Amino acid sequence: MDTYYIDGKFVSEDEATLSVKDITVLRGFGVFDFLITYNRRPFRLEKHVARLENSARHIGLELNHSKKEICDIVMQTIEKNPDHKEENIRIVYTGGISSDGVTPQGNGILMVMATPKHELPEWWYTKGTKIITVDMERFIPEAKSSNYLSAVFAQQKARSLGAVEAIYKDKDNRLLEGTTTNLFAFKGTTLITPPSGILSGVTRDAVLELLEKKYDIVLDFIPQTDLAGMDEMFITASNKEIVPVIQVDDTLIADGKPGKKTLALMADWKAYTTAYGLGKAD
Ligand SMILES: Cc1ncc(COP(=O)(O)O)c(C=O)c1O
Repeated sequence: MDTYYIDGKFVSEDEATLSVKDITVLRGFGVFDFLITYNRRPFRLEKHVARLENSARHIGLELNHSKKEICDIVMQTIEKNPDHKEENIRIVYTGGISSDGVTPQGNGILMVMATPKHELPEWWYTKGTKIITVDMERFIPEAKSSNYLSAVFAQQKARSLGAVEAIYKDKDNRLLEGTTTNLFAFKGTTLITPPSGILSGVTRDAVLELLEKKYDIVLDFIPQTDLAGMDEMFITASNKEIVPVIQVDDTLIADGKPGKKTLALMADWKAYTTAYGLGKAD
């Protein structure tokens, strides 16, 4: 049984409760963040907590914990789950209880849930994946809010079409980001990733740091009409890391195999995160 932190107490997962009156339940008003561990060291914890604070600022949610307090609670939650080899960690800050059921009153609840990290299918990484595009955009895309309605819709559509992810597209048919991933494309030695209208992914930032000296980096949108001209594509996220993309809707990317630069990045990522887990990289 996993141990969670809920509003000041460590409890077994089957004893974890939240008021039905919390406006995260009633209105989808709250924020969350998600990270994983390498060798049980949480990956870029401070950056995830800074993003949680930023998400809260964007939606007007008051947090009653400092960044340090939240980081300490995450570390304690990891220690309370010694049988997990690696963790998936969800930090949730709810909207709290509101007397009129809609106005936030600054009494939100902090929850930290640690569950064992599960492996994703091997073929995603060896054969590459299909993704689809959807004509949807997230409300306040800079925030990781508890309202992921568009993600639930888009993911269902992706699954029904044999795809692993759905990419939001703006009114000008430009690709922005996935439901839980950021998007990258290589054209020659230029790496392109959308600049705005997205969640600033912690994995995306780390990938940009790893590649900034190797390639020209261009922060730009990826028009749907340019997809056929891309040499490689991949998506990134904390739990998925770097996933090669070989097809977007009906368009094959290059020869329909994971690209060489993407495979090299995956190897660099493995080396970097192994060093991170050993405390030899930050
Ligand atoms: C909308 C969205 N974009 C991008 C990401 C990737 O962010 P990260 O690399 O920090 O996991 C996520 C993560 O869940 C997300 O929800």
